[in-house]
Amino acid sequence: MAKVGMFYGSTTGNTETAADLIQKEFGKLGADLLDVFNVADANVAKMADYDCLILGSSSWGDGELQDDWDEVWNEVGKLDLSGKKVALFGLGDQFGFSDTFQDALKVLADKVKELGGEVVGMWPNEGYEFDDSAALMGDKFLGLSLDEDNQSELTPERVKAWVAQLKDEFGL
Ligand SMILES: Cc1cc2nc3c(=O)[nH]c(=O)nc-3n(C[C@H](O)[C@H](O)[C@H](O)COP(=O)(O)O)c2cc1C
Repeated sequence: MAKVGMFYGSTTGNTETAADLIQKEFGKLGADLLDVFNVADANVAKMADYDCLILGSSSWGDGELQDDWDEVWNEVGKLDLSGKKVALFGLGDQFGFSDTFQDALKVLADKVKELGGEVVGMWPNEGYEFDDSAALMGDKFLGLSLDEDNQSELTPERVKAWVAQLKDEFGL
């Protein structure tokens, strides 16, 4: 079975909490299926070791990447992701940052495509209220969209459904 590597960056812990939930859901599919790394203290070159990747970032500033991702962005840019399936998840605040909701997903998706990877795990935009997001492609987000600031009660069911979707899209 393909191994999956998850890399995330988190400033106040919300993306980390989501990463834990995703890890628990993957645990139901196979004990050692998923390795998890916080980019604050991981070598992003390890992404090369996996057929399937999950990348997670909250959005900060004016719809930018989380800071720890910024720190390793040059290293990420040196990777070759061709042949890899890459799913993305984002944390954002749809009411507080309604014009740049989840924009970091777009930054991640653009980089993955530039490096030859295939973005999978698109997520419907139903059930959210916001004015604008760069992370939309048609009526779907470029990855799982979570909002711990306003809709934390929906996070477990969203994670569960998304991991079930990834099981198919990753071919696990
Ligand atoms: C100064 C500041 C800027 C933010 N900018 C955005 C933004 O542009 N878009 C968005 O969707 N959320 C934005 N957020 C909300 C965070 O992404 C959200 O709180 C997230 O859950 C933080 O996750 P983390 O603790 O893993 O970093 C911002 C929050 C703060 C405090």
